[in-house]
Amino acid sequence: MKNPDSRIQIVHGDITKLDVDAIVNAANSTLLGGGGVDGAIHRAAGTELLAECRALGGCEPGKAKITRGYRLPARFVIHTVGPIWRGGKRDEARILANCYRNSLQLAVENEVKTIAFPAISCGAYGYPIEQAAQIALETTREFLGATQNIHRVIFVLWGDDVYDAYREALQK
Ligand code: APR
Repeated sequence: MKNPDSRIQIVHGDITKLDVDAIVNAANSTLLGGGGVDGAIHRAAGTELLAECRALGGCEPGKAKITRGYRLPARFVIHTVGPIWRGGKRDEARILANCYRNSLQLAVENEVKTIAFPAISCGAYGYPIEQAAQIALETTREFLGATQNIHRVIFVLWGDDVYDAYREALQK
């Protein structure tokens, strides 16, 4: 069983450019697009993505839904809805962990071998970055420890602060 950390990568960059089986979108519960990485993914994928999302009927925080990638290099987009940070006593940590776990589970169900995540909830949703990075890596390590079906998980980070936080979390 290849050790989980050998299957995890942390890179700086724009997730819409990644040629992987699936990229994960930090969406909102309507799944009808928005700003940040959600806006970037919809712009790059084209209007067919929004058309498919409309038919999904939204998504609860912590859950994940899959669509095709259309004009993106990635075959699939896995849309997940992160928690809005409200001080940490509203189940935010559990919901964020569920975003990673449910996205990875959906990836396995769709024979996705390589998957890229943005820093879910670390932008508009205001999650403290160090805590979010810790949850992302712990949850992903735990999931990869139980399956060989995912060959590579890439965390694609946009800002230096987020990149540094994820690098720190990976060293722990
Ligand atoms: N590639 C990778 N990461 C990106 C990109 C990109 N092209 N664009 C932005 N990011 C980063 C942000 O810098 C941040 O670190 O993604 C992280 C998540 O930030 P948001 O996109 O704001 O997502 P989130 O905090 O989960 O808030 C979701 O914002 O865009 C709306 O519709 C979305 O309402 C939802 C909310």
